[in-house]
Amino acid sequence: MCAVREPTRAIVQTELGQETISKHIYGHFVEHLGRCIYEGIWVGEESPIPNTRGIRNDVVEALRQLNIPNLRWPGGCFADEYHWKDGLGPKSERKRMINTHWGGGVENNHFGTHEFMDLCEQLNCEPYICGNVGSGTVQEMQEWIEYINFCGSSPMADLRRENGKENPWNLKYFGVGNENWGCGGHMRPEYYADEYRRYQTYVRTYSDAAIFKIACGPNVDDYHWTEILMANASRLMSGLSLHYYVTDKKSFATEFAEDGWFDTLNKALYMEELIVKHAAIMDRYDPQKSVRLIVDEWGTWFAVEAETNPVFLHQQNTLRDALVAGVTLNTFNNHCDRVHMANIAQTVNVLQAMILTHGPKMLVTPTYHVFEMYKVHHDATLLPTYVEAGNYTYGGQSIPKVSISASRNAEGRIHISLCNLHPTEAEDIFCEITGDVQPFCASAQVLTSKEMSAHNTFDHPNLVRPEPYQDVTTEMNGLSLKLPPKSVVVIELNCSH
Ligand code: AHR
Repeated sequence: MCAVREPTRAIVQTELGQETISKHIYGHFVEHLGRCIYEGIWVGEESPIPNTRGIRNDVVEALRQLNIPNLRWPGGCFADEYHWKDGLGPKSERKRMINTHWGGGVENNHFGTHEFMDLCEQLNCEPYICGNVGSGTVQEMQEWIEYINFCGSSPMADLRRENGKENPWNLKYFGVGNENWGCGGHMRPEYYADEYRRYQTYVRTYSDAAIFKIACGPNVDDYHWTEILMANASRLMSGLSLHYYVTDKKSFATEFAEDGWFDTLNKALYMEELIVKHAAIMDRYDPQKSVRLIVDEWGTWFAVEAETNPVFLHQQNTLRDALVAGVTLNTFNNHCDRVHMANIAQTVNVLQAMILTHGPKMLVTPTYHVFEMYKVHHDATLLPTYVEAGNYTYGGQSIPKVSISASRNAEGRIHISLCNLHPTEAEDIFCEITGDVQPFCASAQVLTSKEMSAHNTFDHPNLVRPEPYQDVTTEMNGLSLKLPPKSVVVIELNCSH
């Protein structure tokens, strides 16, 4: 006789919930790297590709659907080589430079501060600029802030006006260097902590709100870096960054078997441990949690696509990337007491992109769809969750089979995002909704496919996209649902009291 398996138990506690999931967790990142900015975003005013002041319309239109909260620029490693004054004035007269870190190509500086701010205005998002500590001066950083934010008359504010912008932009987010333990100067944490203290002094406040200053934080599990920065500079920072990529640089994004699926998701789940351990160090110096953890580079990093420039970091994006995004965003949601902002790398044509372009063609990736499905969590209240699902075991290693997070928005609607990491087994779940509410399912979407490596192509751009999800029924005190294998599901509940 076959034993009937009880459904997995999950709980969403609607009577609890204190922390807000900052919408900035759903931030993005564009760097002067490969075809991200040039081609992917900037095509120039003369391009036959439809554009607004040089910025491609199709890409802006697609990104607007994601309600992007913030955009980080100009790097990445490029940030510590970038001299912002080179990107001002008539384009034909702008100084050229060599993009030494990313292939040695000529950077014509056609996409500078004004163009980036225009992009942010078109996307209706906050700009997040990363300044140059590695090869730039304190004066250069000070003047950039004055150029962007000062409303009175001053050398930099007047220069901005000469370049056609009367009013300041009111920049809120500023990073003081990028990866200064590596491409940003190979500094020791003690040295960078002192440099941070000095540079940030001149990141002046010119508007009502102080600038949110982000210090360069650790590389992955460099807990010593976090310790030294918190001990020596935490009083002077609003955020400390963390960079962690899920890497398998020897394999293509689309060519993998179950071992590649398991390994990638296992690495994605490691984000949880990194946040917990870095946050524990931060807690010792900052129990009030006034310094926020800013995961301003994360995502998958696979081998570049065949016949593409090896330093352009161009990779395809499959259902596996969608699961990485779903699991990672659930992790950030669940740690929103410390994680305030995150920026997936990178928006177009580079690493775990939302969008791929080829000449005038454009497609959105499975990762894009996860960001669209999860936007319901922006600025919502995190609801504590619990899931008793068993493990997914492969090759003698085990990881949790199901990932979950939930929130309640300002209108009182509850959203639950669930990922089934198992590539072949569906998961029956009974999800108890606690609290004095009677839930009913208003709508639900699922992102899945038959193949682990399913992806969108320019010939078939809609192979992987969300579909209405039917396998959910409302019961007295919860929901019964069947999560398909390798899927991301987002459920919206209306609740009556
Ligand atoms: O996102 C690509 C690169 O990865 C960034 O330039 C750098 O900061 C990181 O090492």
